[in-house]
Amino acid sequence: MVELTVCIGTSCHLRGATKVIKTFQHLITSNKLEKNISLKGAFCMGQCSGKKVRVSVNSNVFETSPEEAEGFFLKEVLNTAG
Ligand code: FES
Repeated sequence: MVELTVCIGTSCHLRGATKVIKTFQHLITSNKLEKNISLKGAFCMGQCSGKKVRVSVNSNVFETSPEEAEGFFLKEVLNTAG
């Protein structure tokens, strides 16, 4: 099970966290990955970049944006989900 967490703190929210979550939800559902990936929101991870949205995959922290969310998912999340 992959723990996919999107920061919904103020800074990340302003950078499009809601759109990132919607993209991830769509990709999880359309790829039938509900049993492999647990998608959660988190309050500020203490690593606001001011430019992008903080996302963690298991314990690894990354940053992404609404535009990059699908590519990020395919590269970092699907690889981890196997
Ligand atoms: S608001 Fe997302 S890391 Fe601070």
